[in-house]
Formats: sequence, structure tokens, C-alpha cells
Amino acid sequence: MSEDKPPTPLEEMLTAPVRDAIDRSAYGSWRNIATEDAVSLSYGFPDPDLFPQTALEESFGDVLAEEGDDALQYGGGEYRESLRSFLIEQERERGIDFETHDLLVTNGATHAIDTVCRAFLDPGDTIIVEGPTFMGALGVFRNFGVDIISVPVDDDGMVVEQLATTLRDRRERGDEMPTLVYTIPDFHNPTGTTLSRERRGHLLELAEEFDFAILEDGAYSDLWIDEEAPPPLATMTDTDHVIRVGSFAKTLAPGVRMGWLTAPTRIQEAADTVAAGGTNTLTEAFVGHYCGSGRLQDSLPELRRVYGEKRDHMLAELDANMPADVDWTTPAGGFFIWVTLPDSVDADAMLQSAAEAGVTYLPGSLFYPGPAGDNELRLSFTYVKKPEITAGIEALAASIEQAR
Ligand SMILES: Cc1ncc(COP(=O)(O)O)c(C=O)c1O
Repeated sequence: MSEDKPPTPLEEMLTAPVRDAIDRSAYGSWRNIATEDAVSLSYGFPDPDLFPQTALEESFGDVLAEEGDDALQYGGGEYRESLRSFLIEQERERGIDFETHDLLVTNGATHAIDTVCRAFLDPGDTIIVEGPTFMGALGVFRNFGVDIISVPVDDDGMVVEQLATTLRDRRERGDEMPTLVYTIPDFHNPTGTTLSRERRGHLLELAEEFDFAILEDGAYSDLWIDEEAPPPLATMTDTDHVIRVGSFAKTLAPGVRMGWLTAPTRIQEAADTVAAGGTNTLTEAFVGHYCGSGRLQDSLPELRRVYGEKRDHMLAELDANMPADVDWTTPAGGFFIWVTLPDSVDADAMLQSAAEAGVTYLPGSLFYPGPAGDNELRLSFTYVKKPEITAGIEALAASIEQAR
């Protein structure tokens, strides 16, 4: 709670996880950083020039003209169904078996993650995440009163050997075993790394041995630059341990709030039962109209090209400007580069002066379930233009020199 005012009776009635979230000093502090004149390398936003605004307007108009009342009524019309068909076809092409699996459309991938948590997590359960991981998912997990453990990430994604050790140690000690392991195997947020094929196989073996669900987040899977990621975990096994979520946020537009999950049929049914409030059927309809015409798939090469150029530009600027004791990842896709500063530089503490010098980023500590990541930070290369990337990296390099 805010320190200057005592909590009101209503605030005191907030649940413990919510009070924790509000109290957490890191939570949201970065939102207050003055950013108006600074280049924002903070947000995982798509390049707005890539939004297919005219085509979406056309789809919206066509849906209303053709389906009128149905599109506006509970349940939606046929174009809504065409979204589901499109997604099933897309996921089938990735290798998901729809004899044994089914698909649920959700209001974005985060809603899909929340729905999976509702279906699986009891308070006091244990879950395992990559450290660092997507902070939106961490925020969801924290709402469920679970213990969150992290496993490190290196250039080949989650260090699955370390996960195996953690699992064996816990079993030996008689500790609670995890219900869920959350992973972003392709072009990870925030590190940009990709889980190797070998480690995918090992992770699946562990899921069988220790009986946990893998929650596979494929938000960036289509946004490869150099080459596609290895096959999704969900397609590498005929066991029932993987639930895969996807999103239109990065390939179409975050504003549509559309995502999905695929899971073994009875798990999909359980998720469908607990997903509250239904989805936005009108948006499903016009996104279905847009995707059904092939335009989403047709747009992907251009997205890959533009993001590839921006990534290369940011990498070149890092090379040209960063002090020798700063390291960073080289992502093969996605939106992010993860930077490791010298031990003596605290990315949280540096943020205000970096903003004044002309750049903002997200401090690494936001991406861990516990205290960690003080000398790390995330840069996004997708949202801003190339000259801004240059200015932003120059300002970052100057801030690091000043902070050390
Ligand atoms: C790994 C990951 N999953 C999911 C999302 C969000 O998806 P959505 O906007 O569909 O909830 C993001 C966005 O930053 C992400 O990085």
C-alpha cells in the first residue's frame, strides 16, 4: 500500500496476494519514470507501422455488413467460427493432434495463462518458471498464492539440467513437487534465447517422470528472424503433459486482445469451464475474417524483415558503444535483447539517470520471482525507429559509464 496514507477498510479487505503485489516496491515503479523525451526501449510493443489498419477496417466493415445482428449478438456469427478454424489449421500445421487435443480462444495469451492457473493451481502449490521470465505471467502466478521457483536461462534457453537437479533434490527432501512448469521456449521474453531441441526432449522426459504440466508460451514463435525455432514441445510428445498458449498481440495487434490455448481435450474442456466472462466475439469475427483471407500469414515475412533489421541495428549499436565488460544476448527472433551490466551497476538505480540521459529500459529485477537481476536489463528493439535505437544505445552506454 502507498506509504503516505493508512489503508482504508476496503483496502484492508484486498486479498493477501493483491496486497503483496501493491506493496512490492519494484512493481510498477518503472511506470513513473519520466519518459517523454527519452527513447523507449522498455516496452514489448510491436512497430505501429506494421499494424494492418486498413485491412482490419475492411474486415470489421464486412463482418458488420454481412453478419449484422449475429455478429453483435451473444454467441457471434460464422466469422467467429472462421477464427477457430483458422487457428486449428495453423496449430495442426505446427503438429498439434486435434484427434486428442482441442483449442480454446481467449482474450490474449495472458488470459489463457490465467485460465490454466485457475484450472490447475491450489494455494500453496509450487510452480517453476524461467528466471528471468515474462513479468505479465509472474503477475498472474502471484495471484494464486503459489510458491514460485525459478530455473536459470542460458544461450540455449531454460537450463533443463538445473531443473532436473531441482526436481530430484525436492523429491529427496520430500518437498512439494511442482504442478506446472512455465516456459517460453521460442525467442524468450526477456532474454531472446531459444530452447534447444535437446533440452526440449529432456524437459518432456522430466514432465513424465515427475508428472507436472508444461505451460508452453509461444507468443513469439512466428517471429523468427534467422530460422524457425525447433518444434513446439506440444508436438514432440504423444503424452498429455503440454498446454500451449499463443497470441495475436505480436503478429497482429495487442489491442485485439486475442489469444488461444491448445490442450488435451479434457483439459481444454476444464479450461473452457473456468474461463470467466467469455471472449469478445465481435473481435473474434473480424480477426477471423482477416486471418481467413490469408492476410495474417502473408504479412509475416515483412514483420520478420523489419524486426530483423532493427535487431541487427541494435546489435551493431551495442557492439559499437558498450563498454567491454557489458554482455548481451543475440536473439534469433522475438522482440528482446537481454543485457548484463558489470556487477557494480544496479539497473534499477540507474533508470532515472538513464531516462534523463535519453533512454528507458526495463530493469532485470522485474523478471524474477525473487530478488535477482540487479545488474541486468531488457531492451526491446521492435517499437522504435533505427535512429532512435542509435540514440537510445548511446545514452545507455553513457549512463553505464556514469553509474559505475
Ligand atoms: C511471453 C509472452 N506471453 C504473452 C504475452 C502477452 O500476450 P497477450 O497480450 O496476448 O496477453 C507477452 C507479451 O509481452 C509475452 O511476452
